[in-house]
Amino acid sequence: MNILIREDDIKKRIQEIGAEINQDYKNKNPVFIGVLKGAFVFLADLLREISIPAEIDFLGISSYTGTQSSGVVRITQDLSINIEDRDIIVVEDIVDTGRTLNYIISNLKTRGPRSIAVCTLLNKKDARLVDVPLTYVGFNIPRVFAVGYGLDYENKFRNLRHIGVYNAQ
Ligand code: IMP
Ligand code: MG
Repeated sequence: MNILIREDDIKKRIQEIGAEINQDYKNKNPVFIGVLKGAFVFLADLLREISIPAEIDFLGISSYTGTQSSGVVRITQDLSINIEDRDIIVVEDIVDTGRTLNYIISNLKTRGPRSIAVCTLLNKKDARLVDVPLTYVGFNIPRVFAVGYGLDYENKFRNLRHIGVYNAQ
């Protein structure tokens, strides 16, 4: 499998993003909302770069079958805390068409948070169908199917330490 982003480069970029968030959210107590399952590895590493008070929660979302976005988004696991008046940072593994994130943002908005920011490790800019505001982006990548570091192909490859390109053979 071809390597797209090396382990060291992921680590370095997450340190940079963590520093930015520490700066942007000092004197705040943000809630990081990890989008399951893909974002759990990224959130775990990002959180350890955060030095301000912060909380985490998870939102389970399902939108993909194989390597095609279905466009049908559903919540498989809801938040466990009340986010009213809270500063929210949605943590995603990857933004592709933007449909999943668009759904997540409009769903979270109905719960009355003070603010919503989005932090995604990967961004497939050229695949966008729905415009979504991204506050922190780890890496812009081309329209390939990325696996590893939490991202899967049919629930496999999440354990890779780097990000690779999946090629169906
Ligand atoms: P979107 O709704 O098309 O933006 O798709 C977003 C979701 O699809 C992400 O949260 C991922 O779970 C999944 N996804 C999109 N592209 C990839 C990829 O290249 N590899 C693995 N999962 C992907
Ligand atoms: Mg995802």
